[in-house]
Amino acid sequence: MSEIKAVVKGVGHCLPKRVVTNAELAKTVDTSDEWIVERTGIRQRHIAGDNEFTSDLGTEAAREALKNAGISTDDVDLIVVATTTPDFTFPSTATMIQENLGIRHGAAFDIQAVCSGFIYAMKVVNSMIKTGAAKTAIVIGAETFSRILDWEDRTTCVLFGDGAGAFVVQAEEGGNNGVLATFIRSDGRYKDLLHVDGGPSRTQTVGHVHMIGNQVFRHAVKDIAQAMESCAERAGLRIADLDWFVPHQANQRILDGVAKRLGINADQVISTVAKHANTSAASVPLAMYAAIQDGRIKRDDLVMLEAFGGGFTWGATLLRY
Ligand code: ACO
Repeated sequence: MSEIKAVVKGVGHCLPKRVVTNAELAKTVDTSDEWIVERTGIRQRHIAGDNEFTSDLGTEAAREALKNAGISTDDVDLIVVATTTPDFTFPSTATMIQENLGIRHGAAFDIQAVCSGFIYAMKVVNSMIKTGAAKTAIVIGAETFSRILDWEDRTTCVLFGDGAGAFVVQAEEGGNNGVLATFIRSDGRYKDLLHVDGGPSRTQTVGHVHMIGNQVFRHAVKDIAQAMESCAERAGLRIADLDWFVPHQANQRILDGVAKRLGINADQVISTVAKHANTSAASVPLAMYAAIQDGRIKRDDLVMLEAFGGGFTWGATLLRY
């Protein structure tokens, strides 16, 4: 029997309508457009409205991904949502999206690996598809990070945005396309460098994001580069074979640093950080969506996805689109 691969059949997105520019933020915190652009590359972010929730953004992204894949909800037997900002402590955002899509079969659950969540979700879904536990999955990264920001803390509130992205992934036998290799890692020693100071068990509050940005930065460049090299190696390929690099969108300087370290050309790096800021688990599928829509990423291209986030967690996914 030939090998089963998890093939990305369609990609979707959802961004809240409201756009907040750096200049707008500079009216409420001691910052400037110049500082934010120079240090991060961020120019604006989308922020969810009061009645717009993570499950709403995820549902819209999933609907568009299904439409682009030409696949019906009848075929979906798995929904995995990567999020750090679920609607509720429970039920999972995944089961809420399952209900919104009118799906009455299969299974749905959330994954929590902060900004690396989508990469972790791809690892789990790829394993389930390869072992026959699922045939057609929707993998979603969806966040309303604006809800866990301290809007008076200039060191964090300028960095993040809201949004969702989704892949429809289906089992295919014997083809060349699909996920070729996955790599995930974590190291809990670094939890204090990037964390939220609230949660159901410790504080019974949601809490706010705290980050020692310059220390996170140093780890991110080194660990992401190593994850990508390990992932390529697992598929018997080299970084030089890649067509596209679709990174987590935390900071343009991290993207540039990783590309430089690995000898990737700047025009192979998909960057949405200027428009979206850091949308945590949503950033990788949102960047993939943007590059498919504008015609850069095409069928059969070799694409490396990667992310780094709180925990620390990090990882990469190599796929032929
Ligand atoms: N506007 C103006 N000044 C600011 C701002 C701001 N918004 N934020 C910080 N500063 C000041 C600081 O107070 C500091 O001032 P001081 O020198 O007087 O103390 C100065 O700017 C320099 O601060 P640094 O933190 O050293 O600045 P740095 O160049 O490292 O940039 C940044 C900060 C953008 C946060 C960067 O470190 C970064 O992007 N880090 C990595 C983020 C990341 O990868 N996160 C991972 C994923 S996120 C997740 O998982 C949830």
